[in-house]
Amino acid sequence: MTHNSETQIYYRPDDDYETIKAGFFDLYHNHPDLYDVFAKNQIMQSPLLDEIEKTLKSCDIESGDFLDIGCGTGVMIEQLAPRFPDINFIGIDPVENSLRFARNRCRDYKNTSFQLGKIEEIESVGSQFDVAFSSWGHIQWNIQGGMMERVVKENGIAMLVNNWGADDDFEKLWPNEALGVFRDRINLLKKEEYEVQRLDSHLNLDNEVLFDSMSRIFGSEHLQKHRKTPFQIGIVLAFKKGKALKSFEI
Ligand SMILES: C[S@@+](CC[C@H](N)C(=O)[O-])C[C@H]1O[C@@H](n2cnc3c(N)ncnc32)[C@H](O)[C@@H]1O
Repeated sequence: MTHNSETQIYYRPDDDYETIKAGFFDLYHNHPDLYDVFAKNQIMQSPLLDEIEKTLKSCDIESGDFLDIGCGTGVMIEQLAPRFPDINFIGIDPVENSLRFARNRCRDYKNTSFQLGKIEEIESVGSQFDVAFSSWGHIQWNIQGGMMERVVKENGIAMLVNNWGADDDFEKLWPNEALGVFRDRINLLKKEEYEVQRLDSHLNLDNEVLFDSMSRIFGSEHLQKHRKTPFQIGIVLAFKKGKALKSFEI
């Protein structure tokens, strides 16, 4: 598969998962602006932020260190930082172009910082956090689980957000191989006794900027028919707290 990084990330329903991941890396490097529009809308047009807030509060986390692994353009930290002014939010990502976005949009929040890096490096220096969080990132490096959980403090929580991979409109955009990875991950989380919740995002594709951005990522074919109806995406919100995390090794 070839990618024309100037204008379009080509999407093909029969791509294998490694090809899809490579395509998305091109996107993060070359067009974080396109990814950002999609990511932000997906988050804002869902109950996700309120549910994350409820979860953190129910786990008594209102201060401490929150690591957002694969923070991308910083959409999550931008929304969570003002809700939790006593939490220190640290975003890491290996893509400088995305981090530039993140630093800029969060410049007014003193409880935020961003570092170029990978989860593997954080783990190797032994740093630990009250919250190890990842939205739509962990499946890139953590398909089997374990790594994210190892950077959580003894009474901290691991929390992740991903796509559900079934019973939504997104199913028509993603290749089967990726959908299978999403579903396997949910089963793994349930087996590891994570609390797993399904939420839904309803994207308004009548919005031209959103429609154009998503078309350039996924192709417009399947999106076109949703221009007048919401495009529904199933979202997983999963978390686990405490010492039990330490035993999560695969
Ligand atoms: C699907 S994007 C999610 C971005 C952001 N979390 C959001 O919700 O919009 C996945 C992110 O993971 C990052 N990533 C990939 N491999 C990584 C690794 N080994 N360690 C940390 N981040 C990584 C990518 O650069 C990308 O920004």
